[in-house]
Amino acid sequence: MLKRCANDNKIFRIWSSACSTGEEAYSIAMTAIETFGSWSPPVRILATDVDTNVLEQAKSGIYGSERIEKLSDARIKHFFFKGKGARLGSVKIRPEVQALIQFKPFNLLANAWPVKGPLDAVFCRNVMIYFDKPTQYQILSRFHPLLKERGLLYAGHSESFQHAADLFKSQGQTIFKPVLGHGKGAAK
Ligand SMILES: C[S@@+](CC[C@H](N)C(=O)[O-])C[C@H]1O[C@@H](n2cnc3c(N)ncnc32)[C@H](O)[C@@H]1O
Repeated sequence: MLKRCANDNKIFRIWSSACSTGEEAYSIAMTAIETFGSWSPPVRILATDVDTNVLEQAKSGIYGSERIEKLSDARIKHFFFKGKGARLGSVKIRPEVQALIQFKPFNLLANAWPVKGPLDAVFCRNVMIYFDKPTQYQILSRFHPLLKERGLLYAGHSESFQHAADLFKSQGQTIFKPVLGHGKGAAK
């Protein structure tokens, strides 16, 4: 997906819509840096969550070392500073990675959605499980017009949006693409 954009000279816009402590957004940012081979890839990530406490941790970019132990040594070396002295046992993400992300509080259940499209990707992983199907449908129907025609919606492994098949078509277990022409009288 990022490689596709690498060829068309555009800014790639991604929304991590329930970003919790930021791991998802940072991993998208690290992937972008690796994909484009640049510390300033043409990628902007909006990362939101309803919980301002998790957002504070996300913004700090500081984690206990155990939180990154599943990353490769190369990634750890490339993207993190290891804490020393009083900070021993923690790591801090490099500022170049943080610079790609804007963290903001946002409730997916809010009436007003300040997020502007067009977006290349929306990550909405492991949060829909908190909502009933009609609420999920309402949120999905608000994601839909924000996504580009070739944009993608990423969900969690246990999340299925079969009840919103008129909005999103599955592209594999956790990836969905918007059904084109939804709401414009086109075929669903
Ligand atoms: C299980 S975490 C998922 C984090 C991340 N997306 C992932 O998959 O690793 C769920 C997150 O959804 C957030 N959340 C719950 N209700 C929300 C809402 N109404 N609007 C935005 N975020 C919400 C929680 O604060 C929490 O950080």
